[in-house]
Amino acid sequence: MVPCSGESKDLISLKLWERGATGIVEHDAPGGDFRLQAFFETPDESLAAEFGGDWVAQEEFDWVEAAKDSLQPMLVGDRLFIVPDWRNDPTPEGRIRIDAHLGRAYGTGAGEATRLALIAVERYLRPGDVVLDIGTGTGILSVAAARLGARAVIACDVDPEAVEVAAENLKRDGVDVGLFTGSADAVRSSAAQFLVANISAATIIFLSGEFARVLQAGGRAAVAGFLEHDNERVRNAMTAAGFEEIGSHSEGEWWALVFRRV
Ligand SMILES: C[S@@+](CC[C@H](N)C(=O)[O-])C[C@H]1O[C@@H](n2cnc3c(N)ncnc32)[C@H](O)[C@@H]1O
Repeated sequence: MVPCSGESKDLISLKLWERGATGIVEHDAPGGDFRLQAFFETPDESLAAEFGGDWVAQEEFDWVEAAKDSLQPMLVGDRLFIVPDWRNDPTPEGRIRIDAHLGRAYGTGAGEATRLALIAVERYLRPGDVVLDIGTGTGILSVAAARLGARAVIACDVDPEAVEVAAENLKRDGVDVGLFTGSADAVRSSAAQFLVANISAATIIFLSGEFARVLQAGGRAAVAGFLEHDNERVRNAMTAAGFEEIGSHSEGEWWALVFRRV
């Protein structure tokens, strides 16, 4: 069980997934804080020390069932309705339904960064765009892009397990996406008009040159997955790579920045 604040929970949760968690359940804690219950096949004391948590042996615990309680349907942006895939809530009029799938990859819409990326897709994708979804996780942003009128979607993730999960989810959702294990460097130059990447400030900065290469002039790049104090670094890297900022939005400490390829 790892204690964390509202600001740090998304980042800690991502790190726990990256360290091999098989499931994560979010619990409310007093004072608006949270506790993340992360499940691992084998206890590793160094993890407890690193994240400030404690280990509890669980013989029989269905984390999927427990996690279901913490995921609710939500309206995102002006047009999206994100619904856990086990719920049959009707879609509000004028909204586009996107199923959220729980599993061994990041991206259910429960995290601020995913919601910010979804809003960026809604606002800045133009129907007919070829879209790149870099760091697809569950594939949720690809589904949103397809439903919002993308002509084609190409998605990738460096984590083969995420790609496996995304492939299953996209098949279930009936969305046709060119999916591969890898990153932006494997995409041909000027392949797309719109790119979305909800990763981390460091990775976005590292990939900013690749983002510029794979987008056509005038194309848009929406990046999320970082906190307010990283905005300047991300903005500087993207500007140096050949972008100009055209928008930004935030939720709490989390931000998304949107750029145009000059
Ligand atoms: C925060 S999750 C985002 C998942 C989903 N796109 C969303 O918005 O909810 C970030 C994903 O990026 C992947 N990733 C990390 N570094 C990457 C890189 N250099 N290139 C591509 N994917 C990367 C991780 O494996 C992870 O699945």
